[in-house]
Amino acid sequence: MEKHHLILIGFMGTGKSTVGRMLAERLGWPWVDTDTEVERQAGRSIPELFAEGGEVRFREWEKRILWKVTEGETKVITTGGGIVLDPANTNRIATSGWTVALDATEEELIRRLVSDQSRPLLEGNARRRVRELKRERQGVYDFADFYLDTTGLTPAASVERIIKSWKGCSDGGGV
Ligand code: S3P
Repeated sequence: MEKHHLILIGFMGTGKSTVGRMLAERLGWPWVDTDTEVERQAGRSIPELFAEGGEVRFREWEKRILWKVTEGETKVITTGGGIVLDPANTNRIATSGWTVALDATEEELIRRLVSDQSRPLLEGNARRRVRELKRERQGVYDFADFYLDTTGLTPAASVERIIKSWKGCSDGGGV
């Protein structure tokens, strides 16, 4: 498989969707988000999928969608924070696109996520869940081609840094 997409990975709240959408606009590429595609193709929201079949059911959908979206035309792909928990997914991502891992400090993530209602894995005490999951997932995003800490950066500044690094790593497609 050709490594032609630009793929954003990272923990919940690191800004993947916002940055990915702007990145796609900047490059003139299509943008697809795996969570949005799961919801569209399953005809259910993510909380509904979790409620019906647990995390397992959601992960099945997520994997199926990842395979679909990495086929075909070059695009910016943004992903759910837990997609890399499955090594097969990680391999698929690493081999089909130049991959950017977005991150932010734990405090910043908590600030962004504390009142979130749309992420089943943060139910209960969101602050505690962010800390636990961040610890459990340490290292899982390390395979990325480029790492960016978005703490204190505007989405526009993140986009510029990604483009600069991407152009430095490849021929940048003339963008
Ligand atoms: C998840 C992250 C969410 C979504 C689902 C599970 C996770 O996506 O896929 O709620 O396991 O980290 P975002 O990273 O876009 O919030």
